[in-house]
Amino acid sequence: MKVSPIHAAVLEALADDDGRSIHGIASAIDEKPETVTGAAFALEEAGLVQVEEVDRTTVSLTAEGTTYEGEGLPERRLYAAVVESVGTETPVALGDVLAEADIAGEEIDIALSNLARKGLGAIDSGELTVVADPPPDTEASALAAIAADDTDGIDAAVLDQLERRNLISVSTHTERTVTLSSAGAAAVEEGLEVAEQLGPVTPELLTSEDWKQAEFRPYNVTADPPLEIGGRVHPLRQMAERVKDVLIGMGFREMDGPHVDADFWINDCLFMPQDHPARTHWDRFALEQPERIDKLPDELVDRVEAAHREGVGEDGEGYRSPWDEDFARALALRGHTTSLSARYLSGRAIGELEPPQRFFSVEKVYRNDTLDATHLLEFFQIEGWVMADALSVRDLMGTFTEFYEHFGITDLEFKPHYNPYTEPSFELFGTHPRTGELIEIGNSGIFRPEMLEPLGVEADVMAWGLALERLLMLVTGAEDIRDVHGTLVDLEYLRTEEAIY
Ligand code: PHE
Repeated sequence: MKVSPIHAAVLEALADDDGRSIHGIASAIDEKPETVTGAAFALEEAGLVQVEEVDRTTVSLTAEGTTYEGEGLPERRLYAAVVESVGTETPVALGDVLAEADIAGEEIDIALSNLARKGLGAIDSGELTVVADPPPDTEASALAAIAADDTDGIDAAVLDQLERRNLISVSTHTERTVTLSSAGAAAVEEGLEVAEQLGPVTPELLTSEDWKQAEFRPYNVTADPPLEIGGRVHPLRQMAERVKDVLIGMGFREMDGPHVDADFWINDCLFMPQDHPARTHWDRFALEQPERIDKLPDELVDRVEAAHREGVGEDGEGYRSPWDEDFARALALRGHTTSLSARYLSGRAIGELEPPQRFFSVEKVYRNDTLDATHLLEFFQIEGWVMADALSVRDLMGTFTEFYEHFGITDLEFKPHYNPYTEPSFELFGTHPRTGELIEIGNSGIFRPEMLEPLGVEADVMAWGLALERLLMLVTGAEDIRDVHGTLVDLEYLRTEEAIY
């Protein structure tokens, strides 16, 4: 029979055996285990061998386990020290026996809790009493057995307990045993003819024209390759990129700007009264160093102050409340990216903007919220605005309908809302695909003249802030935002979550 060199080597290595492990074959023929695995599967396909898989568990001592195996478990040492000093059923001050047992630091807690758990004794007001005739210590004997590599007879509950104590580590892997089939044995018997088979095509092979005569090794597309866990783009980042693509496709340009900004840009330019509850220290992350912004455009500051005090237009009212420039200069982490919209609309980001204009950002914002299933202290906002003459709520609704359709969300609901800087305003809701719950996904409106006039904008501007994480929840069905992103996120999820594109 004609076979490749590696197949011949594997078959021959199996000839006088009842079955060999992949590693056994690999070391016998001096090949990599992966190569042997690939060959074994190919030979199995050809009916020449059988590959049997068994999941094996290996148990080994951790560094701490090794120490205790040598010195004795802390609770056993403590027990022995008490027996030595006062015998059983007699209290002794803990302090008097610790040194004897050579126990200090965190071993004290370990010794006491395990002593109590195993019923070896009890502590009461700093005095320790141990029992007579304690039961045999299955954990100590299991440690000794593991050290001697004789793990077969150990009770599963004892292994569990030792693993919980971090004294052993248990791992499983698949072991493959390869055995010649009768067809394989017959083929070896008749003699194998080794046919050189080539792997990858090389430039030399092509230029020398040797490829014309060569026989190529077939690909085994069903072999299990080793699992490689590489870096990959986080699902939330993938969603951010997709949102950007959609908005750019809808004719928007991207804004950028500072994460730490003056309250002036975050709030005052948005006609947010200085005594608004969201401006207290409860909600915002203020900066201590530096505390205030150096430069604000004077003229704009005057116009914003006038709007706050007296309003704009003939029957404008304003808040008629104090307005303090120092307060406006205070720096904080932005609580929304509407600060970027204010900067762009003011003409101070990239110059004066004439209508029509469309801008967006997908950027991080920071709020001192209470962490729960739908709130994080940092999240991404999809900010956006359109400047044009004569905009209406219908334009806003139409824009959202078009935007969310790109993500398969077609059941938007709108609810009237209030923002100091928009009139009318409304919140957007979408239905969670798993729980059926209506969840808020954004806030929007048409900027008020009290905001636009000081910024020098004459056209209408409709605007919004949408939550990227909520969009991700609607698209993926995730029920808890903390499962998707942040410190509690499951690495397995990040590794295996399918790309959304
Ligand atoms: N700034 C608002 C928020 O954070 C979103 C918004 C932006 C609303 C622009 C209206 C207009 O909720």
